[in-house]
Amino acid sequence: MSAHEAGFNTRAVHAGQDFEPRTGAVVPPLHFSSTYAQDGIGGLRDGYEYGRGGNPTRDSLQEQLAALEGGSHAFSFSSGLAAEDSLIRAIARPGDHIVLGNDAYGGSYRLINRVLGEWGIGNTPVDMSDLDGVRAAVAAHKTRIVWVETPSNPMMRITDIEALAAVAHDAGALLVVDNTFASPYLQNPLALGADVVVHSTTKYIGGHSDVVGGAVVVNDAELAEKIGFVQFAVGAVSGPMDAFLTTRGLKTLGVRMDRHSENAQAVAEWLLQRPEVEAVLYPGLPDHPGHELAKKQMKKFGGMVSVQFKGGEAAARTVAENTKVFTLAESLGGIESLMNYPSEMTHASVKGTELAVPVNLLRLSCGIEDAEDLIADLEQAFAAISG
Ligand SMILES: Cc1ncc(COP(=O)(O)O)c(C=O)c1O
Repeated sequence: MSAHEAGFNTRAVHAGQDFEPRTGAVVPPLHFSSTYAQDGIGGLRDGYEYGRGGNPTRDSLQEQLAALEGGSHAFSFSSGLAAEDSLIRAIARPGDHIVLGNDAYGGSYRLINRVLGEWGIGNTPVDMSDLDGVRAAVAAHKTRIVWVETPSNPMMRITDIEALAAVAHDAGALLVVDNTFASPYLQNPLALGADVVVHSTTKYIGGHSDVVGGAVVVNDAELAEKIGFVQFAVGAVSGPMDAFLTTRGLKTLGVRMDRHSENAQAVAEWLLQRPEVEAVLYPGLPDHPGHELAKKQMKKFGGMVSVQFKGGEAAARTVAENTKVFTLAESLGGIESLMNYPSEMTHASVKGTELAVPVNLLRLSCGIEDAEDLIADLEQAFAAISG
């Protein structure tokens, strides 16, 4: 059975993970070498020349990522933002335009607006649920890229990938989906018509909060060649140890995502019946505006929950600073539960812009601990609101 015909978990464990032929070592060895001996000038073994251009440990991760996203090519980078930067530079030129969700991750917006903007790439943030609005924004410029996160960070909005791909393609643009929140286990944007998937592999793919990385996956050889060239020429590649840790994390993605999703559903349902809560943003709740769409394009609803408090900023800060199992920290997607106050932490860079996050909102990354312990922890932190 070839890796591509196998189920997700089988591919996660085996794609790119052949045992080492000399010793039979079941885990492929980690290659730290920065360079490779040549059999005479230009006599490369298996194409390996220099570590920025190729590394077997990185290659095995890239094969695994491509197999899990259903792509033909994957590229592993030193961070999610490095992946996004190389991707955009591979496909956009000065004068080109990016239409992105007005709830995109603050760091992605900072890169697009403040770094790439200086190099002549324009952008328009729009509400991705309003397809006519997206169409108009795309038509108003020389749009090369439509960029969407679904679910979005941290507003948890769900966008119709298939419909958005049609809008982008009608205008000759590419659809890029940041699939960080869903992970390839829950959603495969390429199968829904997207052209490119990007990930912060720092999150669910690595899964253990011990490595920073990013990835780009495509299903088009021409596009892959352009991205591969920028990866090599710019050099923001993942190092061998980072690639190894990411591969190890990725092998258990499916079982982790099942548990993250179960825990998040339990936490969201508990939050919903609390009097202190103004709104719970979780696509697994039947009254979430994206619930039906999420059911259609995602396998489960994932581990991220956002919550808004009637008591405003003060209540949100109190809960954030009083949990004991949830750790107050940036990032998400690890096995341990994390609590984030986006407007001052992950999304501080978009304060005062159209992408600003409400000050009464907390973002919870529900880990794989016991759901009862997560709820008990929130309950004791909620007690501090009135106290
Ligand atoms: C949705 C999303 N995309 C991209 C990134 C950027 O990834 P990295 O922090 O690995 O550079 C993040 C980081 O938080 C994110 O949440």
